[in-house]
Amino acid sequence: MRETPDVTVLRLGHRPGRDERITTHVGLTARALGADRVLLAGAASSRADTVVDITDRFGGPFDVETTEEPKRVIREFDGTVVHLTMYGERIQDVETDIRTAHESEPLLIVVGAEKVSFEVYERADYNVGVTNQPHSEIASLAVFLDRLYSGDELDREWADPDQIVVPMETGKKVVDPEAVEDAE
Ligand SMILES: C[S@@+](CC[C@H](N)C(=O)[O-])C[C@H]1O[C@@H](n2cnc3c(N)ncnc32)[C@H](O)[C@@H]1O
Repeated sequence: MRETPDVTVLRLGHRPGRDERITTHVGLTARALGADRVLLAGAASSRADTVVDITDRFGGPFDVETTEEPKRVIREFDGTVVHLTMYGERIQDVETDIRTAHESEPLLIVVGAEKVSFEVYERADYNVGVTNQPHSEIASLAVFLDRLYSGDELDREWADPDQIVVPMETGKKVVDPEAVEDAE
């Protein structure tokens, strides 16, 4: 992937019990599809260990951080703030502008759980809809990151994995990276 300024995904809101897997999957999707870090706010912080564990096993770099002051993070972010919401501008209309902005400055991508306060809509440089239909923070994040990186994130290489999945037509193959190196 081309070197660009950092991309941080902020998970805003988390309903304990109901959102456990969703918040974990926001973190895993951010990691798998090329973001540099996930920032888990408030109760969402409980999912940090799971995302760290996956990064330890499957490679990085990817940072997992927590915050008790997500609104302050958004307000004071030194870069472009993108808020993913079904009410936003169509992704296909703004993706080029966002890609251009990201060439020179970091990006903060905000995804919600429940109702997001109007403050966030106002501070965001872009409120972006991945369709204007209600669906999910995981789906919108995945589509957004793929558009941001124009698909290059699919070819990313991972540093220091404990295990590597070997793609195959049928079956599951997971190998120790040292075994791969020894065979080369
Ligand atoms: C359960 S939804 C809440 C839907 C909310 N009414 C909204 O503003 O999109 C949780 C999160 O999913 C994301 N989301 C849902 N649908 C989306 C869409 N069509 N485009 C972009 N993001 C979406 C938003 O980040 C939202 O905060």
